[in-house]
Amino acid sequence: MKILGIETSCDETAVAVVEVKGGEIRVLSNIVSSQVKLHAKFGGIVPNLAAREHVKNIEHVFKLALKEAEIKDFNKGVDLVAVTRGPGLGPSLLVGIAFTRTLAWKYDKPLMGVNHLEGHIYSNWLKPVGATYNLQPTTYNFPILNLIVSGGHTELVLMEDHGKYKVIGETLDDAAGEAFDKVARLLELGYPGGPAISKAAEKGNPNAYPLPSPMIRTKNYNFSYSGLKTAVLYLLRDLNVRKPSSKMTADIAASFQNAALDVLVYKTVKAAQEYSVKSIFLSGGVSANSELRKRMETEVNKLKTRYSQPQLEYTGDNAAMIAIAGYFNYMNMKKPPSHPPLLGTSEGHSKASEVKVKTDWQSVKMDANLSF
Ligand code: KG4
Ligand code: ZN
Repeated sequence: MKILGIETSCDETAVAVVEVKGGEIRVLSNIVSSQVKLHAKFGGIVPNLAAREHVKNIEHVFKLALKEAEIKDFNKGVDLVAVTRGPGLGPSLLVGIAFTRTLAWKYDKPLMGVNHLEGHIYSNWLKPVGATYNLQPTTYNFPILNLIVSGGHTELVLMEDHGKYKVIGETLDDAAGEAFDKVARLLELGYPGGPAISKAAEKGNPNAYPLPSPMIRTKNYNFSYSGLKTAVLYLLRDLNVRKPSSKMTADIAASFQNAALDVLVYKTVKAAQEYSVKSIFLSGGVSANSELRKRMETEVNKLKTRYSQPQLEYTGDNAAMIAIAGYFNYMNMKKPPSHPPLLGTSEGHSKASEVKVKTDWQSVKMDANLSF
C-alpha cells in the first residue's frame, strides 16, 4: 500500500510518500519546504503569512514528492491519503486539509485526518528515504511511553497499542521548544532558538548559573517552562551587562539547557518505572537536541526498556510521519469507508473506530478538535 502524507500545521509545507509492503515500511519520498527564513525576520511565525506560503508552495512540493517516489499515475500509484488535521495554526492547517480533500475527492481515495502529535510518535517507525523499517513485533514493544517535545507541546503519552493513548503529563504553560525559542531571543541568538541554544551550549558550562528545573519535585508528570524562561530574564537583568560576552552567552545557554532537559529526562524515567513500560520513544522538534538524545539514551539504558529516537531528518515537522500514522489508523479501523469523509474526525465512520482513533488529546487540546 502506498500512502501520500501532507503536513501544513505550522511553517513547513511537507508532502511524502510512504510504502508499506511485506511487513516493511519504506519512505519513497519526503519533501519539506521550510519557511524559516521568511519568519526569522519577525522573530517567530506569522500565521497568515505561513498560510499564504503554503498556498504558494503546496502544489510544487506535491509534484516533487510524486516525482521522487516515481509515481506517474496518482490513481494507480496511491492507495490512501493522510493529512494533519490538528493541532496547529488554523489558517495553515486549512491549506493542507483543503488540498488533500480535493485530491481524495478527485481520485476517490480514502482520506485519514491525523493528529500532529501522533505523527511525531510515528516518526520512530521511519528510516531514511529508500531504507526499510522492519515491522516485526520484536522491533517495538507496547506499552510505549512517548516523550513528545516540540515547539507547541511537551507531553508524556502512554501508548498501549496502535491508536490507544493516554496523556499522563503535559506542560501547564510554555512548551519546551517554545522556551528554547524565547530564551534564544533573550540572548539574541535568532530564530529558531532550539538549534541556536544547543550550538551555543556546546561551549558553555552547564553549572555556571543555577537555574530552576521547574516542577521536578511535583508528584505528577506535568511540566512548566515559563518560570525557567523568566529566571533567565532575571539573570540577565541581575548580571547588568549591555550585551553578554560570548562566554557568558554560552554559559547561560548551557545552564538553561541543563535545567530544561533535567526535568524531561527525570520525569520520563519516573513515569516509565511507575507504568512498567516496555519501550520509551522520544519525538518532536526538540528531539533533535544532541544533549537530550545522549541523556535519554544513557538513562533508558539503565532500565530494562527499549529506546527509540527518530532519525534526525524526521525530528522536525514532516509528512512521512503523517503518512505512516495515517496508515496505522486506517488499518486499525473496523470498517474503513471507501472514500472521502475526513476520517479521524467525528464524521463518517463507525463508533468502534471512533473510540480508537479519537485519542485523549481531543479532550485535552481544544485546537485538535477541528471537524470539517
Ligand atoms: O516539532 P516541531 O518541528 O514543530 C512543532 O510541532 O512545534 O518543533 C519545533 C521546535 C522549535 O521550538 C525549535 O526551536 C525546537 O523544536 N528545536 C530544538 C532543536 N531543534 C529544533 N530545540 C532544542 N534543540 C534543538 N537542537
Ligand atoms: Zn511538530
